[in-house]
Amino acid sequence: MMDAVIDEIDGRMIRIGDQWLADFASCNYLGFDLDREIIDAIPGYIEAWGTHPSWSRLLGSPVLYEQIEDQLTALLGCEDSLVLPTITHIHMSVIPLLAASGTIFLDARAHKTIYDGCQVARARGAAVRRFRFEDPDHLDELLRAESDRTRLVCMDGVNSMTGNPPDLRAFAEVARRHGALLYVDDAHGFGVIGERGSDDPTPYGRRGNSIVRHAGETYDGLVLVGGFSKAYSSLLAFIACPTEVKHLLKVAAPPYLYSGPSPVASLATVLAGLEVNERRGDALRAELYSLTARVLSALERLDIETPNRSGLPIIEIPLRDHDRIGAVGHFLFERGIYATLAAYPLVPKDEVGFRIQLTAANTTAEVDRLIDALEVLVERGELRSARAAAERTGTAA
Ligand SMILES: Cc1ncc(COP(=O)(O)O)c(C=O)c1O
Repeated sequence: MMDAVIDEIDGRMIRIGDQWLADFASCNYLGFDLDREIIDAIPGYIEAWGTHPSWSRLLGSPVLYEQIEDQLTALLGCEDSLVLPTITHIHMSVIPLLAASGTIFLDARAHKTIYDGCQVARARGAAVRRFRFEDPDHLDELLRAESDRTRLVCMDGVNSMTGNPPDLRAFAEVARRHGALLYVDDAHGFGVIGERGSDDPTPYGRRGNSIVRHAGETYDGLVLVGGFSKAYSSLLAFIACPTEVKHLLKVAAPPYLYSGPSPVASLATVLAGLEVNERRGDALRAELYSLTARVLSALERLDIETPNRSGLPIIEIPLRDHDRIGAVGHFLFERGIYATLAAYPLVPKDEVGFRIQLTAANTTAEVDRLIDALEVLVERGELRSARAAAERTGTAA
């Protein structure tokens, strides 16, 4: 299950050669890639704008960009926002700018693209220190020991491997207390989790407006980065920041001048997606939550270990023996399950396994096919016991 050529899709079923598989490797959490209303919105935009605005954004931005940034800013409840083609572009250009020749405090398990942005910053004179994953006390310790006045803390929002959000309030408190700017990449939270109230339909909250709103935090001393390429199925990404920073980025962040823009179809699906999100997003998130809960309750019944404590739709399942990854991958493929394999050395040996991602476009029948396959893997002793893990760590299973 690597470098596969997908020959055909039918909903969330995919065909690779002769084999049809239920796809649990897609990040299209809201199912917008298959949403009829969003698909039908595209031709009108292409009629009006052609297929691709080939100006770099600094030369000229179709008004669609202004519309996206205005609507996004309102959705996130931030001061301003700037969109660029991908999160990778943002990390590689914005982290070095914000860090300058100061010190970056980097989450030890930050996404590779954040890490790479920090490497560019390091090459331009920034120092990089790593703090332990999910450990605001360690960040506190490192910040206390640092005399550099320019301090940038870089970390993930919802983690792409564990499926858990960090304790954002604790990290924000530590960063603010030490005068550090907190830079958070919530690629997987945007569109899925959002602001919370007393009568939320699911624990995901409402409107999918990302981890800052979900945690009840503010944008004070905090820069949020996210993307439309996961929940919104579009090629575009954003940085939520003060207007002053946006103006600086417009002249100083290379992709605004030097990179090509997103295709019109992507701008169209973002605009249509923002509208659908307001009208039907919470219903789609309720569907996503229910499919995810179905998998998580099967894991509990089958006593299968997973790091997922959040109920979010990213479920990593570690193997008992890391050497079995090839055999387990082969078994899943034969059973018609497409998942993301996490093999050594991409992950440490004790985390080798496979990752399941749910989307609102998956069906209950596909989820049940997955659960049947998990039952066989348990019978064969391939997976780890959640109860044994809880006993080892002294936590509840
Ligand atoms: C946490 C995180 N950040 C960034 C990215 C990269 O996003 P983009 O494709 O917009 O560069 C990913 C994609 O997998 C991701 O999971």
